[in-house]
Amino acid sequence: MVKICCLGAGYVGGPTMAVIALKCPDVEVVVVDITAARINAWNSDVLPIYEPGLDDVVKQCRGRNLFFSTDIEKHIAEADIIFVSVNTPTKTRGLGAGKAADLTYWESAARMIADVAKSDKVVVEKSTVPVKTAEAIEKILTHNSKGINFQILSNPEFLAEGTAIKDLFNPDRVLIGGRETPEGQAAVQKLKAVYAQWVPEDKILTTNLWSAELSKLAANAFLAQRISSVNAISALCEATGANVSEVAYAVGTDSRIGPKFLNASVGFGGSCFQKDILNLVYICECNGLPEVANYWKQVIKINDYQKSRFVNRVVASMFNTVSNKKIAVLGFAFKKDTGDTRETPAIDVCKGLLGDKAKISIYDPQVTEDQIQRDLAMNKFDWDHPLHLQPTSPTAVKQVTVTWDAYEATKDAHGICILTEWDEFKNLDYAKIYNGMQKPAFLFDGRNVVDPEKMREIGFIVYSIGKPLDAWLKDMPAVA
Ligand code: NAD
Ligand code: UDX
Repeated sequence: MVKICCLGAGYVGGPTMAVIALKCPDVEVVVVDITAARINAWNSDVLPIYEPGLDDVVKQCRGRNLFFSTDIEKHIAEADIIFVSVNTPTKTRGLGAGKAADLTYWESAARMIADVAKSDKVVVEKSTVPVKTAEAIEKILTHNSKGINFQILSNPEFLAEGTAIKDLFNPDRVLIGGRETPEGQAAVQKLKAVYAQWVPEDKILTTNLWSAELSKLAANAFLAQRISSVNAISALCEATGANVSEVAYAVGTDSRIGPKFLNASVGFGGSCFQKDILNLVYICECNGLPEVANYWKQVIKINDYQKSRFVNRVVASMFNTVSNKKIAVLGFAFKKDTGDTRETPAIDVCKGLLGDKAKISIYDPQVTEDQIQRDLAMNKFDWDHPLHLQPTSPTAVKQVTVTWDAYEATKDAHGICILTEWDEFKNLDYAKIYNGMQKPAFLFDGRNVVDPEKMREIGFIVYSIGKPLDAWLKDMPAVA
């Protein structure tokens, strides 16, 4: 029986290993983590992450060939293949701070593997890492190897949160990079045999190590670039009377461009896009490619512009001040179908509104008050460091309340900001909400969830990203 151990029981390690265990009943999979609370949750009825379909997969194989444990050393020692799926956040201090990937967690994982291993291992980079990381990891492992042979593979993960199980069941591709030596190629085949149990062979791509590492950063940069492109166009739509949905549809029907990932929004969030682009920018700079670095930096600048443009629209339309006004925020997660708030645009929008002294009432179906308060009290880039390293309980932001009900959040509010595209926001009783609000009642739709015309018929003053503006908004221009 092939034994797999995965270091890191997070958003990637947990679902990925659960699906491997489900699809490969002849493989034993143990997921380990330094955070005991996370492992306890994986072993309980309430999993530590919300992901549609995940509960069902875990229930089918936990205790059969899927295990969650804090006994990291034991399971490293026993494994044939070790996945490393630890967090690789942006560095917060020192060389490359604010851009480079912080490989502290990765390096300590590699050192532990070197310390504990007593037999040959295939070590798989699952985390997203800077190109050439495998070389550094190889050095750590071989310099401490005591005669053991380690083969390093790069097997970046392309799942998106909210659709992780669907993506893992039916991936566009699985990418495996390895050394071009006979031992390297044998390791590639060993990992390929695991995925081949459910992924068609023509979707399993094999490349050299550096191509695999760089492809992951490039894929995320390309995806984020599409969003910044459509968001840049959304600003021009608002200035000209064009409708960004119509423009995106017309552009996306060109088969060379394609229709996906062209939804204008308040800005992209999530733990990957910004971090990985900053990482790419840093690598370009380190390789003497400032023009390339600046090109990718622009994707993030437009994203920041989009978030501040949204805040400015809110404040400008409400007579240039939201001081002491209640603003309801519907949706805090970075996208629908997840409780993840890492780098969610809601943080920047809420901080912007709080800066103008608004009182904010937040409702998200999957995000707890504790999480929201922590996010709003935290410094930039601290979010991706594990909870156990974060300040335990930052002082709650007093101007913020969190409820479990959209109607309560909007009661007596002057304005509503829709910041996550949860399906339930499409079907709220907006007439009831309007009746309970202060007048004039404003609705700022950062996700193009509602039909602006219908909302105007109810009586709202509506702002929808990239859509023709209300006369009211034209009279109250917002400068980003
Ligand atoms: P996460 O923070 O949810 O999980 C990482 C886990 O690793 C944490 O639970 C942490 O306690 C644990 N950990 C840290 N050091 C460890 C060690 N030495 N031994 C054992 N466990 C350790 O992060 P994530 O979202 O799962 O992301 C992991 C990696 O995958 C990152 O590099 C990320 O860029 C990449 N990635 C993430 C996504 C995504 O959608 N979240 C998608 C593709 C790739
Ligand atoms: C992303 C990549 O899609 C995935 O392949 C990679 O493995 C991890 O990073 P994720 O961040 O989980 O996945 O979600 P994704 O669906 O890419 O959305 C990222 C952000 O972009 C969200 O805030 C989302 O709302 C936003 N987005 C997405 C848009 O604003 N418009 C779009 O058209 C698509």
